[in-house]
Amino acid sequence: MTSADCVVSNCRQLVTCGGPIPKRKDSLLDLGVIENGWIASREGEIVFAGTGADFHKEVQPSPAATWIDGRDTVALPGFVDCHTHLPFAGNREFEFLLRLKGFTYQQLAEQGMGIQTTVKATRAASREELAGLCKDRLNQMLLTGTTTVEAKSGYGLNLEDEVKQLEALGDLRGAHPVDVVPTCMAAHEIPPEFKGDKEGYIDLVINRIIPEIKSRGLAEFFDIFCEPSVFDLDDTRRLAGAARAAGLGVKIHADEFVPIGGTEFAAEFGAVSAEHLIAATDLGIRKISASPTAAILLPGVPFFLMLDKKAPARKLIEAGAVVALASDFNPGSSMLNSMLLVLQLGVYTLRLTIEEAINACTANAAYAIGRHDRVGSLEPGKRMDVLLCDVSSYASLIYQVGANPIRHVIKNGKVIVRAGKLLPF
Ligand code: NIG
Ligand code: FE
Repeated sequence: MTSADCVVSNCRQLVTCGGPIPKRKDSLLDLGVIENGWIASREGEIVFAGTGADFHKEVQPSPAATWIDGRDTVALPGFVDCHTHLPFAGNREFEFLLRLKGFTYQQLAEQGMGIQTTVKATRAASREELAGLCKDRLNQMLLTGTTTVEAKSGYGLNLEDEVKQLEALGDLRGAHPVDVVPTCMAAHEIPPEFKGDKEGYIDLVINRIIPEIKSRGLAEFFDIFCEPSVFDLDDTRRLAGAARAAGLGVKIHADEFVPIGGTEFAAEFGAVSAEHLIAATDLGIRKISASPTAAILLPGVPFFLMLDKKAPARKLIEAGAVVALASDFNPGSSMLNSMLLVLQLGVYTLRLTIEEAINACTANAAYAIGRHDRVGSLEPGKRMDVLLCDVSSYASLIYQVGANPIRHVIKNGKVIVRAGKLLPF
């Protein structure tokens, strides 16, 4: 018998998202559902996921074990939000209003607004303020089911302020139940003091920022905004090479607006992921689909920017790409941090099937940040990160647009949200 200190009994459906990960093509349709499923963990690690009959044969809960009655709920893995720009200060409500008057995101950026507005506010904020803002946002995200989040810097754009953003993320480790995976995105924009001197800034990133981030262990990944108006393909190649030489995993914001081969490059270079892909070409789709590089799609962006163009999700899935979904939470192009909404947008706007969208928010999203050995599916050996939802079947998570049926959230075997309320931690 295996002992357990946390048990969820008799869920209507236990959606495990188990099986070989990453999931491509038809395997994206498999959610590994166990009807009337039970799941149990010890010290935060799943020791059992299966039927009640097998549970009684195999598991011996400790006398002090936490029991949760899953009777009226559907259980699924905590969402993995694999692309966010979490640590920023200020907001861009004013620019949002300008966009509603007809200015485009790019026009605002050309006027010195956009990312630069957030750089000013973030540089002016202290590490403690940033950590506090992140904590409040993570609290909100937990309520909509996010239990692991990737978080990018990129609003500091100098050594001191990039480090400050990443230190603020580090301050959350152990202090907040959501797991934060830090990415340095110093290559997000050219800062104003380097206007007209892109080379000078690239030099700073390669020779000062990357080595410092690496030597202090402040980030796992390095991300580059590959777009003609920011870092072109040659710049991207040099930055990616420097990041890899320093031992950082490479992620690329590719083909968000103008296709310049970012997706193709990400696949050839062996980047961990290429993200956005709204303007990806057929060649890019073919190359990424034949590679291990994850295709992270961000349906919040065309929704929030009110663009007609959307990532070619169906083409990517049919070509065999590892498709994941994420929020891209940031103040300019996607001021939304609910993975429940992202899941819904994945189905309604990108035309993923319900099953594909759930796998893309869990198992494949975990793969896209190198965490699929720990999170993203409910299988023995992985973390007990579970959402218990008040729905009749998993399809209702998408059917009930805008509702939040997530009742309880378990993180690492501890109930962290009960009856829709965050508990003190
Ligand atoms: O992923 N594309 C670049 N970065 C963000 C937007 C950042 C911002 O507008 O502040 C994105 O869309
Ligand atoms: Fe982004």
